[in-house]
Amino acid sequence: MEPVNVSIIYYSATGTVHALAQAAAEGAEKAGARVRLRKVAELAPPEAISSNPAWSQHIQDTADIAEVSPDDLAWADAVLFGTPTRFGTISSQVKAFIDTTGPLWFAGKLADKVYSAFSASNTAHGGQESTILALSNVFYHWGGVIVPPGYTDPVQFKTGNPYGTSHVAGDGAPSEVTLQAARYQAQRVVDTAAALKIGRAAS
Ligand SMILES: Cc1cc2nc3c(=O)[nH]c(=O)nc-3n(C[C@H](O)[C@H](O)[C@H](O)COP(=O)(O)O)c2cc1C
Repeated sequence: MEPVNVSIIYYSATGTVHALAQAAAEGAEKAGARVRLRKVAELAPPEAISSNPAWSQHIQDTADIAEVSPDDLAWADAVLFGTPTRFGTISSQVKAFIDTTGPLWFAGKLADKVYSAFSASNTAHGGQESTILALSNVFYHWGGVIVPPGYTDPVQFKTGNPYGTSHVAGDGAPSEVTLQAARYQAQRVVDTAAALKIGRAAS
């Protein structure tokens, strides 16, 4: 069977969600997938970015990562989306990309894929779950197969978010345990997408 194609599509201003996305890419690759790691285009004005040195630095550090295009959705068997919490919901940058997908959706090209999501917030109860669930609303409209991590691996009992990997950015960079949860989430997505691919090929 052809390997599973996985797109990992994320937005990150100061690097937290980027670190989770990279770990997810590692997990997907280890699970045998072909992986596209794609950042969502920045929309913030230069003066907002330059007011935060960590934001400016992160843009420089990730200059070599390709920006997402609709083809990254069309190509994929499975998609992981990552976004920071913005007032309890997804970032405008991720939403702007999602709002370019009407033609693919209308052509039925977003249905039947596996989708999963991860997030970060500054505080422990600052909206990680509501942000992941907000992304899931989109997956429902697309006719996706949503694959959350649940508590299906011991690492989930350490990080404790069955909706998707998440991190409290106010505590510093993601720990190895959190990165492992992101790898595990991606592996579960790949395994599920592979099972669907095999089943569909056989039917
Ligand atoms: C406009 C705005 C709104 C935010 N809203 C929240 C929020 O509702 N709850 C929270 O805990 N953090 C909030 N944050 C903090 C970000 O979620 C946090 O900086 C982000 O998760 C860090 O991820 P990054 O390093 O990938 O950018 C907000 C930040 C901005 C700029």
